[in-house]
Amino acid sequence: MSLASRSPIALAAASRSAQRLAAAKPTQAAAYSLLAAASKRAVPEAAHVAQYSLLARASAASKRASIQGTRGIKTLDFAGTKEVVYERSDWPLAKLHDYFKNDTLALIGYGSQGHGQGLNARDNGLNVIVGVREGGESWKQAQEDGWVPGETLFPIEEAINRGTIIMNLLSDAAQSQTWPTIAPLITPGKTLYFSHGFSVVYKEDTHVIPPADVDVILVAPKGSGRTVRTLFKEGRGINSSIAVWQDVTGKAKEKATALGVAIGSGYMYETTFEKEVYSDLYGERGVLMGGIQGMFLAQYKVLRANGHSPSEAFNETVEEATQSLFPLIGAKGMDYMYAACSTTARRGALDWAPIFEAANRPVFEKLYQSVRDGTETRKSLEFNGRDTYREDLARELKEIDDQEIWRAGKTVRSLRPDYKP
Ligand SMILES: NC(=O)c1ccc[n+]([C@@H]2O[C@H](COP(=O)([O-])OP(=O)(O)OC[C@H]3O[C@@H](n4cnc5c(N)ncnc54)[C@H](OP(=O)(O)O)[C@@H]3O)[C@@H](O)[C@H]2O)c1
Repeated sequence: MSLASRSPIALAAASRSAQRLAAAKPTQAAAYSLLAAASKRAVPEAAHVAQYSLLARASAASKRASIQGTRGIKTLDFAGTKEVVYERSDWPLAKLHDYFKNDTLALIGYGSQGHGQGLNARDNGLNVIVGVREGGESWKQAQEDGWVPGETLFPIEEAINRGTIIMNLLSDAAQSQTWPTIAPLITPGKTLYFSHGFSVVYKEDTHVIPPADVDVILVAPKGSGRTVRTLFKEGRGINSSIAVWQDVTGKAKEKATALGVAIGSGYMYETTFEKEVYSDLYGERGVLMGGIQGMFLAQYKVLRANGHSPSEAFNETVEEATQSLFPLIGAKGMDYMYAACSTTARRGALDWAPIFEAANRPVFEKLYQSVRDGTETRKSLEFNGRDTYREDLARELKEIDDQEIWRAGKTVRSLRPDYKP
């Protein structure tokens, strides 16, 4: 929701907090938390006029707070390799507003990323519009989130014509299908933005070839759009990759960093379009999604084949992993998780980890090649380009849901004290 559409109570609270924070020389993170906190509140339409003076005060206070909070770009040592990390604090809100004062961010597509990135940029006080198919599912969803037809919500072509920064957040298959319509509208002076390297890197398959006279940049949040939104509302920020495909103005990287902040990133890591798409397609097919399901299932099936009950097999495979051990890895690393377990468990895990690595490595090599040579892209374009892609995906997910392991999991989860059906 825009700054101007917040409740008077929220803005008064924001203004007071901002003044307190400014007096206390707060950090930039605090300034963003303040705005994020204000954005959580309700939005009575009739109260808009009264909000403007409060908005101005809150904005001025947050500008003072933000400027004092600048911390600079960091070079960090990642296990012996030095990498530059761009921070939200390099872009205080006042600087962000000034930088984009003549821009309209046109978000094309309103799936998970459109929702998260769009609402965050709007809450950061930027001029944002949404472009989606009229009457489609996204059109309805955008209206529910407060985008107004004819004011901030438009059919795709009109939104592109009105925008200066065209954020292509259609599904990857749709980016390819719609490119013949979209390409002529990307005129000189506009910037073309993606959240995935997919379309331009695999141009032989997608046929997405940006015009030579516009900046082409990428901000890829490392998480779902829902997380992009949740972390922003909590005053935190998602990690994102940033990259430049084409730098016509000499300002492409700077623009990517600023947009990364605008859409709710906390820290941004520089990469290339190629490396972003290779690592992303590889990771989701590997450990993050495909690999984890395969490992869980293999372990569960061997337990079941050896006479263990479904509950025992599930608890020893999934429940203990997700509820006890994986959070420990997330908090402090693998050795920390090992150290939290028995010496018996530690000995066995230390012995078997290299065996699993050796067994899995060829699969990962094969997967990387399949990503690199475009096989994965072509499969995705073919499948997700079908008219029936939603139903086809839903059918396969239902097959997973019907597997014994996940049916057993439902009963195990129902016993948790905080269980919600
Ligand atoms: N989701 C993630 O976790 C994630 C993370 C990082 C980056 N990304 C990248 O962000 C981009 C957007 O992904 P997403 O997950 O937010 O979106 P998505 O769910 O894959 O795509 C949804 C959008 O595409 C539109 N769309 C689909 N087919 C269309 C067609 N033929 N013509 C016009 N519009 C069509 C939908 O509109 P309708 O409702 O009208 O069908 C909807 O607005 C992708 O490049 C993706 O790789 C995603």
